[in-house]
Amino acid sequence: MDKAIQYELHLAQRMSRLGTETAFEVLNKARALERSGKNIIHLEIGEPDFDTPANIVEAGIDALREGWTHYGPSAGLPELRQAIAEDVSRSRGVKVASDEVVVVPGGKPIIFFTILALAEAGDEVIYPNPGFPIYESMIHYAGARPVPIRLREEKDFGFDVDEMASLITDRTRLIILNSPQNPTGGVLGKQDFHDIAAAIGDRNIMVLSDEIYSRLIFEGEHYSIMSVPGFQERTILLDGFSKTYAMTGWRMGYGVMRPDLAAHITRLMTNSNSCTASFTQVAGIEAIRGDQSSVDRMRAEFQGRRDVFVAGLNRIKGFSCRMPKGAFYVFPNITKTGWKSKPLADALLEEVGVAGLSGASFGEFGEGYLRFSVANSLENLNQALDRIDAWTRKNL
Ligand SMILES: Cc1ncc(COP(=O)(O)O)c(C=O)c1O
Repeated sequence: MDKAIQYELHLAQRMSRLGTETAFEVLNKARALERSGKNIIHLEIGEPDFDTPANIVEAGIDALREGWTHYGPSAGLPELRQAIAEDVSRSRGVKVASDEVVVVPGGKPIIFFTILALAEAGDEVIYPNPGFPIYESMIHYAGARPVPIRLREEKDFGFDVDEMASLITDRTRLIILNSPQNPTGGVLGKQDFHDIAAAIGDRNIMVLSDEIYSRLIFEGEHYSIMSVPGFQERTILLDGFSKTYAMTGWRMGYGVMRPDLAAHITRLMTNSNSCTASFTQVAGIEAIRGDQSSVDRMRAEFQGRRDVFVAGLNRIKGFSCRMPKGAFYVFPNITKTGWKSKPLADALLEEVGVAGLSGASFGEFGEGYLRFSVANSLENLNQALDRIDAWTRKNL
């Protein structure tokens, strides 16, 4: 028999610049521990624990039966693009037409495509840190230079606009904003956006405004930089269905942007996914146009859990936690435990079966924090608090 040849894997150089999202790695590790018999409370992954509302599921099933099983236009079904345009026009107080909307499989592709389309070697992209790790990963991947803007706990995880202004150079192509924010739950207010807009001035810098948690706000109202006069043309608004309608597995999100850029983002869709699944999009029309009471119910539930979990964390030795104003994450400061974020997250997972994430997995300025998702039942959240408390009593 021939001797099997071992072929060395020759990866393209660019793959060394691609990062990842730790949540999925921790989830895999937690699942492996579960398979070995350990009981795990999952507070690591950022997805609602609710089922997709029944009216949306029914619309998806009907769509499958009606034959929405074929390719559709790369930019999305016209009726869905129209529904999104109307929804965004209403919620952001701007006039959006359907040719400014591109439907993609999840919010993530808008990050991927926007950075690919706008940033190249030597360009600089300012992004929040701690922040969604895909920003930094994609900026690196595109060969551009990531320029972190530090989110500050004392500012309720907002940032210092003067500091942001000082980071802008002639090479700045893109500024990424995210409110409500992952991982901190921080929310920028209307005045913050006007200050940010004033700092950008009339420079030809684009803003990627990640608003995937726009409907998960517990205090005040959501505001978008797209609503600031003069900024619609320079904003790519990212929003979607994953978090608002508990549709993470359906894979559907969208970007709203000037039509000339939309044509290029559509070309990236044609080259990668062809289109978002057609039956998913039909369900998306129902999500936007149908009954919204489930959105309010889920938000109220997250708020109740947030209150309990934050209060509980603040009773635990070495932990101190601000009350997040949005999203479904809490981001306690753990510096007083004397532990670094990653070893503490690992210890809580391995020793007491509480899966959370190290703040450092969201960037260098996330060191000193942990991220827990409150997308779990109150019963499990209370049990997680008991386990963390017991761990700190034993180890601190
Ligand atoms: C800030 C932020 N943007 C985008 C996404 C991506 O969402 P999707 O699952 O729709 O791709 C997430 C998901 O965790 C997120 O937290």
